[in-house]
Amino acid sequence: MRLYPKHKKPLTQEPSKWFADCIDKIIIPPYPVADIACGYGRNGAYVTCKNHPVLFVDIDEDCLNFISQGSDVAMNGKLPSEYVKLMRIDLTENWPFQRSCLGGIICVHFYTPGIILKAIDSLVQKGFLYFETIPGHKGNFYGLPKQKEVLSQLYPLFDILYYEEKEVKYYGETRTTLKVFAVKSH
Ligand SMILES: C[S@@+](CC[C@H](N)C(=O)[O-])C[C@H]1O[C@@H](n2cnc3c(N)ncnc32)[C@H](O)[C@@H]1O
Repeated sequence: MRLYPKHKKPLTQEPSKWFADCIDKIIIPPYPVADIACGYGRNGAYVTCKNHPVLFVDIDEDCLNFISQGSDVAMNGKLPSEYVKLMRIDLTENWPFQRSCLGGIICVHFYTPGIILKAIDSLVQKGFLYFETIPGHKGNFYGLPKQKEVLSQLYPLFDILYYEEKEVKYYGETRTTLKVFAVKSH
């Protein structure tokens, strides 16, 4: 029985616009980047095409199979298979990375409490974190972080290069949608 919602393949493999804008402005440290809850790999593929190793992590085998066949995964070039590693993992149960082993973490449209702190711990110095929540529709409310929760976890260890937060209210409770690109500075 499936306990997580099946993610439909997006119409295009275009990466998150905000992610692409930010990643083009930094130098990624020489450690693998993890695209966690990668779906069909649109964001990680953008990095792989810069000839940087990417670990694509998801619970859904169909997503990982799509990435493994390589064609039409990336918008910006052919996916260089030598830089692709696939990991099928339930991120609510396991965090597969040790301390200070990743040059960057991409987490788009997936959130589970505690995941940002685990991500912070696994980044090397100068490693980046890009976190973008799902949009704030009603049904998504409980998949969003609390206000300032993520910011307080990043501060003061990170330089924030991009930050956008919007309040979402639901039955008197407030959470937030968020896009943040930050580089670990300490
Ligand atoms: C909305 S999609 C986002 C996909 C991708 N990040 C993107 O931006 O296109 C959410 C992804 O999270 C994955 N997912 C859901 N629950 C998960 C879990 N417990 N562990 C790992 N991945 C999970 C789904 O399989 C799906 O691919």
